[in-house]
Amino acid sequence: MSDARPKRKTIPDLQAMKARGEKIAVLTAYDYPFARIMDQAGIDVVLVGDSAGVVTAGYDTTLPVTMEEMLYHTRAVARAVSRALVVADLPFLSYQVDLSEARRNAGRLVKEGGAQAVKLEGGVHVAETIRAIVAMDVPVVGHIGLTPQSVHRMGGYRVQGREEAQAAQLREDARAVVEAGACAVVLEGIPAALAAEITAGIAIPTIGIGAGVQCDGQVLVIHDILGLCEKYSPKFVKRYADISATVRTGIDDYIREVKAGVFPGEEHSF
Ligand code: KIV
Repeated sequence: MSDARPKRKTIPDLQAMKARGEKIAVLTAYDYPFARIMDQAGIDVVLVGDSAGVVTAGYDTTLPVTMEEMLYHTRAVARAVSRALVVADLPFLSYQVDLSEARRNAGRLVKEGGAQAVKLEGGVHVAETIRAIVAMDVPVVGHIGLTPQSVHRMGGYRVQGREEAQAAQLREDARAVVEAGACAVVLEGIPAALAAEITAGIAIPTIGIGAGVQCDGQVLVIHDILGLCEKYSPKFVKRYADISATVRTGIDDYIREVKAGVFPGEEHSF
């Protein structure tokens, strides 16, 4: 039986990309329109990040994000994406309490959300959780370094691994995540040299955000690269477009035309 659908990126594909030195491009998406545009553009992985809470819901941190919110965003993205691998974040408190809750919530993101993999934050201390989820054939992406769900422990969103003790801990975290069976790992907010060393030393792809160019791939938040998030502008963000200004112009024009009685015109009336 032949299948005319475009082939979806798989975890073995990402592994092969690392092996041949082909960079992996990842962006976050939280809704159907943006997910569709980036899928058509050829993005490799779409991450339904819990950053949704900050950039789409206006929370100050990712901590309030719930499973139901992640399922809503994941379903919208999964409906739009046919080529890229869809990875969904397990939000805070959906995997930390016990293994059976972690397994159920990971399974829900796949079964009800339509994701192909889940991501969770932490290294050595979540290795057992990663192992438990992988054991039910749900692929897991790890996330170490600056882990936003640990904002209160870190005392803010700070680069991790500048001091040798922290760098040693991050090496341990990377090793633990790999040994637990993760299929890839996000390295966030760590010195470029340390990220390069970790990338060279592990067999799974590393996806960097604020971790230098030597990672196997890069991820950024879509609202940050399009100039849609005025709240924060971390050093690692590059702005590729400013659609806030375009959106504002469109809205200004609409308000002006409604107030002036110019819209709707005859062509928009029955
Ligand atoms: O939630 C998110 O968007 C993320 C990425 C920034 C890595 O975890």
